[in-house]
Formats: sequence, structure tokens, C-alpha cells
Amino acid sequence: MLICIPDVLDRAQVAQIRAAILATTWEDGRLSAGTQSGGVKVNRQVPISSQVGAAAGDSIIDALGRSLLFLSAALPLRILPPMFNRYASNETFGAHVDNAIRRVPGSPVHLRTDLSGTLFLTDPEDYDGGELTIETSYGAQQVKLPAGHLVLYPATSLHLVTPVTRGERVSSFFWVQSMIRDAERRTILFDLDQSVQRLRAERGEDETSVKLAGVYHNLIRQWAET
Ligand code: NI
Repeated sequence: MLICIPDVLDRAQVAQIRAAILATTWEDGRLSAGTQSGGVKVNRQVPISSQVGAAAGDSIIDALGRSLLFLSAALPLRILPPMFNRYASNETFGAHVDNAIRRVPGSPVHLRTDLSGTLFLTDPEDYDGGELTIETSYGAQQVKLPAGHLVLYPATSLHLVTPVTRGERVSSFFWVQSMIRDAERRTILFDLDQSVQRLRAERGEDETSVKLAGVYHNLIRQWAET
């Protein structure tokens, strides 16, 4: 499931994060890439050790925690501290799959990357190219969202960023280990949760919605890893 989540950050938050990270030091994006992806990656990133990056990442984690749609779609167990990248003209990231396991910086904890997230920090009209292109079972999907919007997709997907041909594309990216490892089960739970919420909004809390909410939580009991 590929899901776009609007307005994870508002305009003021986008402006604040952009100003902070653009003023800090950047490094070659290949420094954090694996062997395969390093060969096709041409961009820059805020170093993992950056205090500015860590503070900006924390504000994104807070925003994710307030997004009911994100929580429903990801059912997160752990979120890797968000990182930041930028693509200037002619920069690109060719087809690759993200590493399966990542260590949480500064800790012995490892995280399995079930979901990849890209949070756009540049509006689409400010650059050409730079589409995030994700292979799905229904063909390749191109994603280019307004600043502050998030796309969440299975980390198992082959994906790429097409070359930027005008302007600059700045984004945050991160990985989530979900309590629900299996993507199909996660999709079933998301559909059920969204339907229960719609039912509640339309009819109020009634016996059916209470029963279905129970089914949702009982499925999580069956399937969740915590
Ligand atoms: Ni990637």
C-alpha cells in the first residue's frame, strides 16, 4: 500500500525546518548508502551526527505522532530518526531497494525497515523532475507532493528519484518498523480502522461499530509484534 498523508507539517513548520537544515552542513549522500544504492545515488544529506538534523527530526517525529492517518497506516513500533536530503540540478537517485536493517544512531537497537517515508519540504512548482517513482504491483507510481505532505510505501519496493532539472528538491526521509510486519495484514487493518471511523462519524457509537472496533483490536492482538 502506498499512501499519501497531507499536512503532516503546516506551512510554518515546513519553513522553520527548511531554514534550520538549509543553514547547516551537508555531506555526500553516498556516505549512508549501501553498496548497490551507493553506485546510483547523487545527492547531499545532513550528517546523522548533526544536532540541527536531530532537532528537526524530533519535530517531525512529534508531528507523525499527532497524525491519526499515519498511525493507522503504519502502526509503528519504532521510527528511525528522520534524515534530510537535497537534490540540486542533475542530481538523482537511481533504482534501488532500501537496506532491510538499520541501526538506530547512538544506540545498540536495530530496526527492520518495513515502511519508507518521504516528507516533502519543497513545493512541486519550485523544481522540475525529482519525482519519487515507486514500483508497485499496479505499475510504477510517480509521487511529487506539496511541502508538508508525506508518502508512505512498503520498504520492499524498488524505487528511484528522477533527476532534478530545475531548482532544488529538499525532503526528509525515514523508516518505520511496524508492529505488523506483513504488508497485507497492515492493509487489512488500515481498511478496517478507516471503515470503523467512518461508521462512527456517520452513525455515532453503536453496537456494530463497537463490535467492529473489537475485531480490529483482536486482530492486532493476533498479529502484532511489540
Ligand atoms: Ni531509498
